[in-house]
Formats: sequence, C-alpha cells, structure tokens
Amino acid sequence: MTPKGKDILIKVNDIEICYDDLGTGNIPIIFIHGFPFDKSSWQPQLDELQKSFRVIAFDNRGYGKSTTDGSDFSMDLFADDLIKFMDGLQLKKAIACGLSMGGYILLNAIDRHPDRFQKLILADTQCTNDNAEAKEKRYKTIKQVEDGGLEEFTEGFLKNAFIKNSIEYVSPLVDDIRKVIMSTPVQTITSTLKALANREDTCRVLDNINIPTLILCGKEDMITPPAKSEFLHQGIKLSILQIIDNAGHLSNLEQPSTFNGNLKAFLENFH
Ligand code: MLT
Repeated sequence: MTPKGKDILIKVNDIEICYDDLGTGNIPIIFIHGFPFDKSSWQPQLDELQKSFRVIAFDNRGYGKSTTDGSDFSMDLFADDLIKFMDGLQLKKAIACGLSMGGYILLNAIDRHPDRFQKLILADTQCTNDNAEAKEKRYKTIKQVEDGGLEEFTEGFLKNAFIKNSIEYVSPLVDDIRKVIMSTPVQTITSTLKALANREDTCRVLDNINIPTLILCGKEDMITPPAKSEFLHQGIKLSILQIIDNAGHLSNLEQPSTFNGNLKAFLENFH
C-alpha cells in the first residue's frame, strides 16, 4: 500500500514527484495540470470528487514541489513520468484527466501505453502541434522570461487564460494562479516552452482511442478554442463533448460546479 494524503513524494525516473492521493475507489482518477501551473489548479476537483472517488493530482517535473534532474523537457518525458508514476503507485490502469498541456501529455501517453487507461477526460486541449508562428512566439517568450520578464509574461498569460469577468471580479482565483506562475522557476518555464514548441502532432492517435472520453472546453477559451475540442470529438469514437459557458482556458477553475458535474456524470454513467 502506498501512503495516502497530501504532498507525498515518490521517486520516479530519477526525480521526486509530489502528489496528493485522496478518497477511495478501485480505479483512481489522475489529474495532469497544464502550463505553467501545478497540482493546486485541480483543488476544486479534488475537494468534490474525493467524496466518491480516489483522486490523485501530481506536480509535473519542475513544477510545484516536484524536482528535475536538469534533463531537457519534452512531452515524451512528461508522459514517461506519468507512466512511471503509475508504476510507482502500482496502478495498472487509471482514468486520466489532462487540461491543456496535461491533455498533450495524455495523448502522448495513450498513444504509447493504451492499455494503462480506462477512461479519458481531455479539457481545454488539442491534438495539433505548434505552427511556425506559434513556435516563433514561444521562442520570443523564452527570451522575454530569460531577460527578467516573468511578470510581464504572467500578466499577458492571465489575460488570455481567464474570461474578462474573472479578471475583473474573481480576483482571488486569478491571484492564486498568478502566484503559482510567479513562483515557477524560470528554467522550468523556458524548458517547457521549448518542449511545447517542439511537440509532435497527436491527431493521428485519435482514431486508435477506443475508451470512453469526455471532452470539456470553456466556450471562451482563447488558447485552445472550442473548435479544437470539436476536432477531438470528431476523431474519438466513444467521446462526448461539453462546452462550458462563462469559462475560458481554465474551465475547471472558472466553472468548477459545471466541470465537476460533467465529470461525475461521465464517471458514473458512461461505460
Ligand atoms: C497550457 O495551459 O497548458 C498551455 O497554455 C498550453 C499551450 O500553451 O499550448
């Protein structure tokens, strides 16, 4: 039996991964955060779903309290960490939920390890990789952050990630994410930006996904707009798509009850 609780450390792939493991259930739901957040971005889901399910959220390498070993990041490496993390917890199978980059990691992992997943939740994500323009923007951001512009990057990111209403009226939510980004090491941010710029397209994977998949997307997501989720839905046979009103890129935080309601209905009814 592995320990249960919050902020547990486990050695995986020569680094330490920090995770929360709460609630009980046969097949746990593992939450994979996006860029540049940490496992705290899943708090509303952990709070609600631990009442009926076993829920696990972990910090990707370099984020939160997880360490790095100085290797260059890549989606392959993040996905390898996920699989080794499951091995470390002796989990043959899991239900996995990834938001944005968490979804990129998940699509990478399911391509190489389809037998390790029982159901998927893909939130505010996409299977397409960066075009030339997006790549160039990532490299400009790397330069900006390396030149001391983390705060400027963070403010720009928050404006794109949240809907106007959240920026103006739900400042504790925006502040929490601001703090998470501002406390992330510059090296982690730049290494992830390179990994994002160089990631492969995973759209060819969609046709091979034969497990129930819930696709969620904030209606006003400007980073991975609903059309990206529509595309995932068209490609994944056993998928259902729910677009969430009054939410941007962080639909799980901006509309937690709608997000959780959809998640619970999917976990309980969709087999
Ligand atoms: C994320 O939320 O993980 C990132 O915004 C994804 C991206 O920049 O492609």
